[in-house]
Amino acid sequence: MKQSTFTVLLMLLLSSASYAEIQLNATMLSLPCTGCHGSEGKSQRAIPSLNVMSREQIYRAMKSFKNDQRHATLMNRIAKGYSDSELRLIADYFGVKP
Ligand code: HEC
Repeated sequence: MKQSTFTVLLMLLLSSASYAEIQLNATMLSLPCTGCHGSEGKSQRAIPSLNVMSREQIYRAMKSFKNDQRHATLMNRIAKGYSDSELRLIADYFGVKP
C-alpha cells in the first residue's frame, strides 16, 4: 500500500473513532434528561418535548436557566451541572436536525 493511501485510511479511521466518541458522550450526557423529557426528547406528559425545539433554542434555554436569567422550578439547578460545551452536545442531540 502506498504511504499516502495508508495515511488517508488512518485519518479516516481516527476521525470516525472520534465522531463515535462524540456521539457516545452526547448520548450519555443526554440520558438523565430523557427521564423527564421522554426518550429522544419526545415527552409523554406535561413536561415540554425537546425534539420539537431547534438546537439553538435548547442551548439558549439551558444557558438562561444556568445563568438564572429564566426562572423555572427545576431546570436552573439541572442546567448548572453542565459546562457550556456539554450543553452544546446535549442541544445537538435533542434539537431538530437541520
Ligand atoms: C426532573 C425532571 C427534569 C429533568 C431531569 C430535566 N428537565 Fe428540563 N424541564 C423540566 C421541567 C419541569 C421544565 C419546565 C420548566 C421548569 O419548571 O423547570 C423543563 C424545561 C426544559 C426546557 C425548556 C423547554 C421550553 O419549552 O422552553 C429545556 C430546553 C429543558 N428542560 C432541557 C432539559 C435538558 C437538556 C435536560 C438534561 C440535561 C433536562 N431538561 C432535564 C424537567 C426536567
